[in-house]
Amino acid sequence: MKLSRPARRALLVLHLVSAGAWIGIDVMVAVLVLTGRFAADVALRSLAYRALAAFVTLPMLVSGLVCLATGVVLGLGTKWGLVRYWWVAVKLVLNVVLCALILVVLQPGMDEVGAYGEDLLTGNPPAGRVSDLFFPPAVSLTCLTFATVLSVAKPWGRRQRTPRPAKAA
Ligand code: HEM
Repeated sequence: MKLSRPARRALLVLHLVSAGAWIGIDVMVAVLVLTGRFAADVALRSLAYRALAAFVTLPMLVSGLVCLATGVVLGLGTKWGLVRYWWVAVKLVLNVVLCALILVVLQPGMDEVGAYGEDLLTGNPPAGRVSDLFFPPAVSLTCLTFATVLSVAKPWGRRQRTPRPAKAA
């Protein structure tokens, strides 16, 4: 499959917008987690945790999946291939792992985060229930920044060299 020029451009725009949205959502998650942990005002802390629980995982998952789908089509429809070059193959693995972590680790804990936010308003919530919330934005932002650097630098070349056809005698 070879993409036409306009199709490639349109997909690349969508790819960049979804990757940018994903990074932006991660920054917002980091801000909410820090607000929930360190703000002086208990009402604001509660709001931050409830906003995290209510709004974050779906847009994050959608932008991750759009980034994955457009990346896969761009890979298949251009000279880059899906696993032909290391920089694309590594991004593929990172994208799949990050989307799986959203579904398997982040989403299932969100009810508890929302409940913690509500408990903050009513009394003393048990300690430690949300203490590991720093990891998701830290891990995700590190991986997405690395993926962006890979996309721009395109390092490490091809995964395997295709053997040249033998010359006719
Ligand atoms: C992990 C999140 C990802 C981020 C942050 C990201 C970021 C980017 C960026 C910034 C570019 C533009 C590079 C340039 O034009 O110089 C790009 C291009 C590209 N990306 Fe991704 N990407 C991600 C995931 C993926 C995935 C999963 C694939 C495929 C398996 C992929 C395949 C590609 C390809 C093939 C291009 C080149 C498109 C072209 O030049 O026509 N990307 N990506």
